[in-house]
Amino acid sequence: MDVQETTASDLIARSTRCDVLKDFALPFTVKVYLGSMGLSNSGSDELIGWVSDLLHGNDVKRTEAAQSIVSFIGELAASRRKQSAADSMTYIVQAQVQGRCVTDEEVRGIGVLFLIAGRDTVAAALGFDMANLARNPEDQESLRREPTRIATAVEELLRAYSTVQIIRVATKDVDFEGVSMLKGDFVSCATMIANCDPAEFMCPDTIDLARQDHRYIAFGYGPHLCLGANLPGVRLP
Ligand code: HEM
Repeated sequence: MDVQETTASDLIARSTRCDVLKDFALPFTVKVYLGSMGLSNSGSDELIGWVSDLLHGNDVKRTEAAQSIVSFIGELAASRRKQSAADSMTYIVQAQVQGRCVTDEEVRGIGVLFLIAGRDTVAAALGFDMANLARNPEDQESLRREPTRIATAVEELLRAYSTVQIIRVATKDVDFEGVSMLKGDFVSCATMIANCDPAEFMCPDTIDLARQDHRYIAFGYGPHLCLGANLPGVRLP
């Protein structure tokens, strides 16, 4: 088991209760990010604080946090440009788009997007997953007994608890299935509704951790399919 996971589970095991989001999920997401960037967890508390301020702080904190994060990512990018490593930042700084290298500004944008996109999304998913397992001790027991079923269970939990909604802006007036949308209208494509569509899923309101049908759209679809959708394969250093 990874160092980070050991620390988190040790802490949780030692106390009789924990706040899953604060004590585990939110720090975990930032540590995964650091791991993918080839960094240790030594600066993780500071980064966790900045991300929290950026996403949920007031205007002053948000601005300060944004500046700190952008300069943190800028410095990391500069160091990987000087000396490459086997990590995501090296991949980003060496990437070619339409035959040209990505600019420093683009690198910072990608670095920030990676960090932010994988934070509340993953933490919210973990929170829902834990709450579901807490309510269903027999599911906990069965996953402990047969851990090879966990990957399938995660898929079903992503279907059942889809937290990210897809928003688009209509580029022209359109009539869709009797609903009029005008150019400039915001259109919300609710993933949680699609994932519970009885025309697509048998007994969609039943959470069946052994369900094999994983055609859900919790990660979106099409050209903007979530970049993190394949991350369960990532291993921390
Ligand atoms: C359970 C966790 C996650 C969920 C439910 C989720 C969900 C989504 C959804 C629905 C979209 C599509 C948004 C749209 O079409 O407007 C998206 C896009 C994206 N996600 Fe995630 N995400 C998760 C985790 C992550 C992680 C860990 C990363 C970090 C690598 C990430 C990076 C991205 C990026 C970069 C995009 C934009 C892709 C694009 O526009 O081309 N996501 N995500």
